[in-house]
Amino acid sequence: MSKITIAIDGFSSTGKSTVAKQIAKHMGYVYVDTGAMYRAVTFYAMQNGLIGEDDFNIKALINRLPKIDINFKFNESLGFAEVYLNDKNVEKQIRTLEVSSFVSKVAAISEVRQKLVEQQKKMGKDKGVVMDGRDIGTVVFPDAELKIFMTASAETRAQRRYEELMERGDHVDYHAVLENVKERDYIDSNREDSPLVKADDAIEIDNSNMSLQEQFDEILGLVQMTL
Ligand code: C5P
Repeated sequence: MSKITIAIDGFSSTGKSTVAKQIAKHMGYVYVDTGAMYRAVTFYAMQNGLIGEDDFNIKALINRLPKIDINFKFNESLGFAEVYLNDKNVEKQIRTLEVSSFVSKVAAISEVRQKLVEQQKKMGKDKGVVMDGRDIGTVVFPDAELKIFMTASAETRAQRRYEELMERGDHVDYHAVLENVKERDYIDSNREDSPLVKADDAIEIDNSNMSLQEQFDEILGLVQMTL
C-alpha cells in the first residue's frame, strides 16, 4: 500500500501530538513533533542568555542558528522519537511553562522558520509521516494527502495542559496556563511569516467533547478513506 503524508495543525494544546503519535504507531509511520523543534531552539536561547524576562537578542540567535543542531532519536521503550539539542536529550526541559512562554516569539522569526521547515521537509520526503504543528498543511507539506485542523475551547485546552504539567510535578497555576495558551494562539495566528490558519482543504475537528478513543477513531477513519 502506498504511504501518505498526514498533516495535523491547530491551536496550542489541542492534543495534536497525542493523536498523531497514536496514528503513526498504528500505521507504522514516522511521527514528527515540529513544536518540539521550536521549543528546542527556544531552550537553546534561554540557556545561552539570549532570551530573558525583558530582553531578547534576536540578532544573536539568528547568528547562532548554524550552531543549533536539532534531531530526533527513537526511544524504543516510549515508542516515539525524543528531541535532541546538540546531542543532548531535552525532551523534558522543553515542556516547561517557561519555554512555552517564549516559544511563540522565537517561532515568529523567519530565519528560525526557514531552518526548521527545511529540515521538516527532508524528514517527510519519503511520505509515511504524521507531522504536527501550525503550518504543516499550509507551508511544510501543502500537498499532504490528509490535512487535519484541530480546535477546542481555550479553557478545555488549558485544563488539559495544566493536568499534564501537574502530573509531571511542574506546579503551575491554571490561570497562568490559560493565559499562555491564549497568548500563543494570538501570536501564532497573527505573525507575518506562516501564521496559523486552517488550510482550505483541511478537515476541522473540534475535540472539546471527544474522548481520546473517539478522536483516534475519527482520524483513523479519515486516514483509511484517504489511502
Ligand atoms: O506544538 P507546541 O505547542 O509544542 O508548539 C510550540 C510553539 O511552537 C507554538 O506555540 C508555535 O509558536 C510554534 N510552532 C510553530 N510552527 C510549528 C510548530 C510549532 O510556529 N509547525
